[in-house]
Amino acid sequence: MSDQHVRRADLRIDVDAIRHNVGVLAGRARESGAATMVVVKSDGYGHGAAVVARAALESGAERLGVAAVEEALQLREAGITAPILCWLFVESDRFGPAIDADVDLSASSQATLARIVDAAAERGKTARVHLKIDTGLCRSGCPADLWPELVEAAAKAEAAGRIRVEAVWSHLACADEPGHPSIDRQAERFARAYEQARAVGLEPIRHLANSAATLTRPDLHFELVRPGIASYGLDPVPQAGAHDLIPAMTFRSSVSLVKRVAAGESVSYGHTWTAERDTTLALVPVGYADGVPRSLSGRMDVWLAGRRRPVVGRVCMDQLVVDTGGDVVDEGAEVILFGTGDQGEPTAAEWADELGTIHYEIVTGMYRPRVTRTAVGAP
Ligand SMILES: Cc1ncc(COP(=O)(O)O)c(C=O)c1O
Repeated sequence: MSDQHVRRADLRIDVDAIRHNVGVLAGRARESGAATMVVVKSDGYGHGAAVVARAALESGAERLGVAAVEEALQLREAGITAPILCWLFVESDRFGPAIDADVDLSASSQATLARIVDAAAERGKTARVHLKIDTGLCRSGCPADLWPELVEAAAKAEAAGRIRVEAVWSHLACADEPGHPSIDRQAERFARAYEQARAVGLEPIRHLANSAATLTRPDLHFELVRPGIASYGLDPVPQAGAHDLIPAMTFRSSVSLVKRVAAGESVSYGHTWTAERDTTLALVPVGYADGVPRSLSGRMDVWLAGRRRPVVGRVCMDQLVVDTGGDVVDEGAEVILFGTGDQGEPTAAEWADELGTIHYEIVTGMYRPRVTRTAVGAP
């Protein structure tokens, strides 16, 4: 794990771990006869979209999913030619460049469908469209009462050669709570929406399963699964057993100063922690500007010199202080803020639990101006 690159704050992205995780997920999908779309929105959940996309495509994924048009176009600029679905638009988005770049577009309404059809017509092209039905998440997706009109309009546009309806799809609200009654209810509504699409002559594939459903609901794999978080080695359903996932992100820094302080000295802003004995403090040059939540002050450990050690006093904007007790550690020694947990170091999931949030939020928020990101693994 140790290398020369750790200076201030570095996210080490283990590309082999991503390959492994995608291999596990695509293997599960394949057992049900399904293909795999790995979700790389939000810069690959903070891991680096292009790096993750390449690793995923090498490891059994056939497609990629993103939220924003810009994210899809950036992947194309990075040389990625695999099918990419893009699903969340604003008024100012122009679909022409996405169609030119062969990006699949989602439509949740007739208005969006019409914009796609117009952009395709302008270019004399056929756009690939995934029609999204709202089966109960009540976020994006077409409400069930408007669905018959949407599929009819889509069938007309397909007959006119302006679009090809690639898929009918939806998203689950509570797949991370296996057995939640909403899952089956959404599945039933999804089945109805699919039948309605078939009834007007469309022949779409179906996709519904996020990571949690990919891992726990093979009956909902259909033709394609759409995992995100598990590709990064973070388990959305740890309560459902071990899933053979390896966290891909490790957040590291190094010791910038070591000093002895006497019993009775207090540490960092507000003097919230006071040494009960003479001790050694290690200063680590990362703080809340680098993604270490200030609210973890006094509630987090780091891995330093072979063991966990507590962060004492307040986490500041640029630095935090670790109590190494009787141990004198080297300036320059590696500090792991979170990693796989294999050695006993904290994990992103542990931070999330402590903060009352989810590991998704931790990893997607880590890549910041002063933080470097280093992808490692077999080429
Ligand atoms: C529409 C859609 N599909 C799939 C995913 C992947 O979900 P997960 O990261 O839980 O696997 C997301 C992520 O939030 C999403 O928004």
